Amino acid sequence: MSASATSVSHLRCEYLIDPEGIDETSPRLSWRLESDRRGARQMAYRIRVAGSRDALTSGSHLRWDSGRVESDRTTHVPYVGEKLQSRDRCSWTVEVWDETGASVTSAPAGWTMGLLKSADWSAKWIAADPEIIRRDPQAMAPTLTQPGTPSIFRRGFELVGAVRRATVYASARGVFELRANGRRVGNDLFAPEWTDYQKRIHYRTYDVTALLKAGINQFQATLGDGWWSGFVGWQESRARYGSLENSLVLQLEIELTTGERLTVGTDSDWRCTTGPILASDFMMGEQYDARRERLLGDSSNSRWLRAVEVAAPAVALVSQRSEPVRMTDTITPTAVDEVSPGVFIFNLGQNIAGWVRLQLKNVPTGTRLVLRHGERLNPDGTLYTENLRRAKATDTYIAKGAALETFEPHFTFHGFQYVELSGYPGTPPAGTVTGCVVQSATPPAGHFECSHPGVNRLWLNGVWSQRDNFLSVPTDCPQRDERLGWTGDAQVFLRTASYNSDVAAFFTKWMTDVEDAQTTDGIFPDVAPRVPEGKNFVGLDELCGAAGWADAGIIVPWTIWRVYGDQRIIERHWPSMVAWMNYLERTNPDGLRTRDLRNNYGDWLCIPTDTTFRTNSPMKDLLATAYWADDAAKMARMARVLGRQDEAVRFESMFERVRAAFQREFVRADGQLAVEAQTAYVIALTFDLLPEAVRARAAKRLVADIRGLDWHLSTGFIGISHLNPALTLSGNAEVAYRLLLQETYPSWLYPVLHGATTIWERWNGWTHQDGFFNPQMNSFNHYSLGSVGEWLFRHVAGIEIDPEVSGFRRFVLKPFIGRGLQFARASYRTMHGEIESHWQRAGERLTWQVRVPANTTAWIYIPSENGSMVSTDGLPLLGREGEFAICEAPAGRYEFQSTILDETTNQARALGRSGQ
Ligand code: BGC
Repeated sequence: MSASATSVSHLRCEYLIDPEGIDETSPRLSWRLESDRRGARQMAYRIRVAGSRDALTSGSHLRWDSGRVESDRTTHVPYVGEKLQSRDRCSWTVEVWDETGASVTSAPAGWTMGLLKSADWSAKWIAADPEIIRRDPQAMAPTLTQPGTPSIFRRGFELVGAVRRATVYASARGVFELRANGRRVGNDLFAPEWTDYQKRIHYRTYDVTALLKAGINQFQATLGDGWWSGFVGWQESRARYGSLENSLVLQLEIELTTGERLTVGTDSDWRCTTGPILASDFMMGEQYDARRERLLGDSSNSRWLRAVEVAAPAVALVSQRSEPVRMTDTITPTAVDEVSPGVFIFNLGQNIAGWVRLQLKNVPTGTRLVLRHGERLNPDGTLYTENLRRAKATDTYIAKGAALETFEPHFTFHGFQYVELSGYPGTPPAGTVTGCVVQSATPPAGHFECSHPGVNRLWLNGVWSQRDNFLSVPTDCPQRDERLGWTGDAQVFLRTASYNSDVAAFFTKWMTDVEDAQTTDGIFPDVAPRVPEGKNFVGLDELCGAAGWADAGIIVPWTIWRVYGDQRIIERHWPSMVAWMNYLERTNPDGLRTRDLRNNYGDWLCIPTDTTFRTNSPMKDLLATAYWADDAAKMARMARVLGRQDEAVRFESMFERVRAAFQREFVRADGQLAVEAQTAYVIALTFDLLPEAVRARAAKRLVADIRGLDWHLSTGFIGISHLNPALTLSGNAEVAYRLLLQETYPSWLYPVLHGATTIWERWNGWTHQDGFFNPQMNSFNHYSLGSVGEWLFRHVAGIEIDPEVSGFRRFVLKPFIGRGLQFARASYRTMHGEIESHWQRAGERLTWQVRVPANTTAWIYIPSENGSMVSTDGLPLLGREGEFAICEAPAGRYEFQSTILDETTNQARALGRSGQ
């Protein structure tokens, strides 16, 4: 195919590639046009869907034929064909016509439907007979304070002919690993993952056709605790959902080549026993005795007891709609040190979430190897584990004495860069320890690089903290006894996350957790999924309603719509968002959000840090009111998109009312705010809460505050993502660059220069002066303060959402060239294809290459001195805006050249403008 020809790729159904077992009866289909031809675009499309590839090829029996639709739309086209039923299989293609009149048809893609009705489940829920524990002298019964021994379930069955198709549907209260005839089913981990188990439980669907055979087959499931009955959060006890009993349902549906169909479902004919895993818990780690693997070979009835049928959960089983957790990487240690005789510490060179793969050769049977995990080392070179709090993060492996044995734990994960191995006989050879990275497998989307190695590492640290914390839900940290879906952290980081990876499906799933956790009064949560109250745990009553946290209920749907053009997420959550807005209005009739703020975290971990809970302060009142106003503004805009004009008017006037109250209470005529804090100014500017007349003065005060701190930042979680964008958009890009490149504490680069490989929870997690901060709250892997990633893409590389058009169908390219960087280069894979922006300066000369994907257009803002020559690569110049020349670019690759001020003049001028 010639370089300029159009091709169609990336066919996706509900954001996923060829998903198995979906519940969505009107799934949305998306595809991408690929071409570097200038102006490449789609004029029309035709979708065909059939029940099989053959039917699709022959064109007979189509379930849906959209016919030729004159449209440039390539995303979120809802399926409106024949009604979809449980187990349906769909193959589809899209044919597109481009602007040259040529047409091209995609390769086929597919999806299958899951079990849509509870009546589709004939299998019974089963649990292990507690007798298996009593009969096994080594096994441990679960208690509220200690994980028990995972159970193993098994069923043999005979197939009288070859298999045409076999599908297994499985769910659990607990987490499972499945095997068919000894081979692992799927490659996902911790299935069926975390939801609010009091509202819904996931099931998963796997095609196991290739794993079964004619004759005797055996299906096996290992069932661990996971979030259902294991330690969750910082409680001393387990069983947050009221039960220590794990249970499983599994339905294997088989079609033979003879046409015969049979179902093998869990019931009391399944057998259960204990195996080599003696205990496994997310926080505590795993104990594995490889010598016990042989127990599984003993098929006597005294070891394998009948499983016990238990009541099915009262809640719905739903298909998981996001990418599963998987192992996505392995890491070879960069160094190993024997810190005391027989105790070795391996440095992975990278803080990860996951575990260690242990590889042993000819280690004597019964050798007990202990792996402890930590993020940092103490000054004496030993493992620093104090900040893990109650998480033991210890895996123990007892060797069976084979020539080669390999161990990876099953139902645990740790947050660590260093691993301590003890018990190894002699010196472990290279290859003994490998780091395994485990995360929700959100597809990578963006890459950023510039001339400053520290900034590159900073960006990468954000990427790693995202990988390490997006594990089923967006968690705060992967290492200590917490790992909860804190809504504030997630909303602050969401835009950054969306540049790094495709997080559409991940957040679509999580937004359901957020809604599930909403109270009947309409209050959105501080953590989702909800973690029911227990001893030593702040319960839901308080874990909701905090400003900047609970507002995620509005910010998440808003952002997913803006970034991915997804209207359905707004539609689906509209009633719950309105309930939240009603709650805010009801509680705060005067337009100031000062009441019922519950835990009220404020600008969490700002400097100086205020971690007092449950109190009001002018700063907290200001932030809460600002967030309310912004919620209202977003709701008004979303209401218009949905065609809900009356509600749009309601929220527009709510915004005006709250904004007026904000101004009365917090803004002085000279632009000074009632609270002199960077975050206060940043938020007021970003959320458009200031009278036009004082905006510039407020921005000046913000800069003055930064200058007063000798060009240092002081924002916490809430201000941080908006800090550099607010500076840039108020004409102070040079100040933003200065903060970016600041090396002394507190700054983004300070941790980088001290070896950070992920983003730290707090600016002072470790300092020269004081060493480690108090271990009670000192994670080295919290992404919030890394939300500067958003600014690197939006304003340094200049890849920005169009103010009018969502989903990057049209977008803005507008880099702000700042002091200290010689080049910046970013690529970003949108729903429509890859945007690229690469600028480099040589003195006053700027060269800028961009790529506008097929079927999109971009507003191009070329940084250039007013009056200087700008070369626009053939695009007509439409005008100027300050220091930018403006063009509009259809799809294609372009190179622009212009003259900009050299660094020194630029800086002098910029700082002059900011009031120096
Ligand atoms: C978590 C945070 C969270 C905060 C609420 C902490 O314990 O780690 O990231 O947002 O509590 O203040």
